[in-house]
Amino acid sequence: MTRYLRLGVNIDHVATLRNARGGRHPDPLRAARMAAEAGADGITAHLREDRRHIRDEDIDRLMAESALPLNLEMAATEEMLAIALRHRPHAVCLVPEKRTEVTTEGGLDVDGGREHLHRFVQELGGAGVRVSLFIDPEVRHIEAARDIGAPVVELHTGAYCDAAPGAGRGSELTRLSQAAAHAAAIGIECHAGHGIAYDTVGPIAAIKTIAELNIGHFLVGEAVFVGWHEALRHMRELMDAARPGVERP
Ligand code: PXP
Repeated sequence: MTRYLRLGVNIDHVATLRNARGGRHPDPLRAARMAAEAGADGITAHLREDRRHIRDEDIDRLMAESALPLNLEMAATEEMLAIALRHRPHAVCLVPEKRTEVTTEGGLDVDGGREHLHRFVQELGGAGVRVSLFIDPEVRHIEAARDIGAPVVELHTGAYCDAAPGAGRGSELTRLSQAAAHAAAIGIECHAGHGIAYDTVGPIAAIKTIAELNIGHFLVGEAVFVGWHEALRHMRELMDAARPGVERP
């Protein structure tokens, strides 16, 4: 049976807009509350070392005042581990982080970083937090995730979304669907995200072994033209169209 595909809405760039002027507007918490009304299943926010978008007080407020489960994206550092253990969000997604990057450029090297990542996965998991690892769609990272006890991987969809429509995008889609199938086969839940827009969401949503999509930047940009609620509603509609007949649980 095909299962429901969850939509995690990444609100980082609501905070980016706010930070451009300082002050409190637009408020990421308000975006999170409206996302719940528009059909989101969770909120995702990336607390970066430099706090360029979401800040510590946003995490405080999202934990205390948003009804949706929070997926905290963070680097595997001691500072972030302490913050995550203090808040115990529903989920943590461990991502690589470089100071000079504009956005998360690639996946975690789980295979090469097993020793470092193992403790983060264990400590967070032991605190009741669902841990996912953001990876490029490669079997060796999925198997390494399993080996260090991570229950979830999130596949980086940037290469697929950035590829020109046609053969290039098709081969990236094949990589994603093979990786998702491999994750399911070895008992790892599979999520996907990065760069997803209206024109790229359908084929990803149609990969039935993917349980959750995390989408942010495109939705915030589209909201400028059609409004936040409408942007989310239409994304949800496109996801549902890729899995006909599946009810929200
Ligand atoms: N998933 C992860 C792990 C990410 O790092 C990001 C970007 O912060 C996203 C999903 C969302 O990507 P986008 O903002 O391009 O939709």
